Amino acid sequence: MKNIVLIGFMGVGKGTLARALAAKSDIYAVDTDDLIESLTNMKIKKIFEKKGEDYFRALEQRTADWLAQNVQNSIISTGGGFYKVKNLKSIGTIVYLKADFDWIYDRITKSKNAKKKIKKRPLFKSYKDAKKLYDKRVKEYEKVADVIIDVENKETPKLVEEILKSVS
Ligand code: S3P
Repeated sequence: MKNIVLIGFMGVGKGTLARALAAKSDIYAVDTDDLIESLTNMKIKKIFEKKGEDYFRALEQRTADWLAQNVQNSIISTGGGFYKVKNLKSIGTIVYLKADFDWIYDRITKSKNAKKKIKKRPLFKSYKDAKKLYDKRVKEYEKVADVIIDVENKETPKLVEEILKSVS
């Protein structure tokens, strides 16, 4: 099986779905932000603060190279900007999790740990800035996707079925 690579905007539910997919299909899930945090022994927020965004993007590319070389038969959830790596398509089947900005914004801000979720995301500081970034990226996500899954108002088990069906 080719890797399943979940892309999409911050807060759309890539990590949650990756773990649910892994549990259902009995294969491992890895997350690019987690890989970067363990490689650097730093939190993403700290990397942005201390080293800047360009440095973080270079780490994403390094992670993409490592994944393409070393990871097979897995589910890969990614940071919201990971889709820009040069070798994205060589990593696996690209599944774009799609939702309107306001739905995503509500999902984050109305969640139990909303404060924590916003705090750990340096690019999700205000509604205005996050919306601007979303508007810039939305067409690009669609362009690189092999599969597009509309995630709004669907329960996780249904989405898991939909994704597994779409990649089989
Ligand atoms: C980013 C998304 C974050 C994280 C970093 C940058 C982005 O991941 O990689 O803060 O550029 O959209 P999530 O999509 O998991 O929030």
